[in-house]
Amino acid sequence: WRVAVLAGGTSAERDVSLESGKSVSTALRQAGHQVTVIDPRDVPVASIDWKSFDVAFLALHGTFGEDGEIQQQLDELGVLYTGSGASASRLAFHKLDAKRRFISARLPTPEYAVVPPTVDPFAAMSLAKYVGFPLAVKPEAQGSSLGVSIIEHPSELPMAIERSRQFDEQVLLERAIPGDEWTVPVLDDVALPPIRITTSRPFFNFEAKYQDDETRYDVITDENHVVVRRVQQLSLQACQTLGCRGMSRVDLRVDPQGQAWLLEVNTLPGLTSHSLVPKAAASLGWSMARLCEEMIQSAWQ
Ligand code: DAL
Ligand code: MG
Repeated sequence: WRVAVLAGGTSAERDVSLESGKSVSTALRQAGHQVTVIDPRDVPVASIDWKSFDVAFLALHGTFGEDGEIQQQLDELGVLYTGSGASASRLAFHKLDAKRRFISARLPTPEYAVVPPTVDPFAAMSLAKYVGFPLAVKPEAQGSSLGVSIIEHPSELPMAIERSRQFDEQVLLERAIPGDEWTVPVLDDVALPPIRITTSRPFFNFEAKYQDDETRYDVITDENHVVVRRVQQLSLQACQTLGCRGMSRVDLRVDPQGQAWLLEVNTLPGLTSHSLVPKAAASLGWSMARLCEEMIQSAWQ
C-alpha cells in the first residue's frame, strides 16, 4: 500500500506522536509498504497530493489530530484514514461529553464536576467537596495525563486547577477510584486482551507512561477471568456508545471490590515502543506491522 503516516502536529503530545509515527512507519516499511511520513505542522492536510496515497495512517495525538478536526478535513477531501470519524473523535476527546454519553447509556464512570473557565480556583472548593477526595483534577480535553493531578486534600485544589488550566481552560474534577488501572484496546467490535498497569508513581502519569522502565504491564489473556470479561464488555459498550471505529483504547479503573469504572476512550492511542496497544497486540502474536495492517484494513470497511 501507499501510506501517508501523519505524525507530529502542534499539540502538547507532539513528541509522543513523533514516536508513534516512527514505530508505525518503520513497521510498515519493513512489511514492504510504501510509506511517507508527513507532519501536519509543516504541511497542511489540504495541500497534500492525496492521489499518491491509498490511505492516511493517523499517528497524531491530542488537539488537531485526535479531536475530530483533521478527520473532518479528511472527510471533506474524500481521503480514507485510520481510526474513528470526526464526530466520535470529538466526543471521545472531550472527557465531559464522553462521560455524559456513558451516563446516558448507564455505563459506570466516576462521579464528577466541571470547573468552567470563569470560575476562580478557590471558589471551586464546594464542587470538589461534592465530588469527594481523593480527587482527580484533569484538563477537560487533553491526553497522556498532561496536566492531571490526584489530590488528597482540599488545600491542593487551587494549584491542581492551575496545572490543568495550562492545557485546557475547562477543568474536570473526578472522584479518584482506588485500585488498579486497566486498559483495553478495541478494534472495531473486538476487544483485545486487557492490560493491568502497576506503577510506583501516585498514578499512571506522563513519566510512568513514557519514561519509567519500572511501570509494570500485565497483559491478561485469561478470557474466563471475571475482571477481564467485565472490562472488555464495558470497553466495547463505551466504544459503541461514542460511535468509534478502527482501533481505540479504553482506560478504566477496577476498585478493590472488583467494580470497573470507565475513565475515557482514546481514539488515537499511542503506538510508541512504550505504548499499550502494541503490547496487547503482541500477546496475540501480532507484530507491529500486523497491528498497523489490521488498523489500515479496518479503514476500508
Ligand atoms: N494519549 C496517548 C497517546 C494515549 O492515549 O496513548
Ligand atoms: Mg487519553
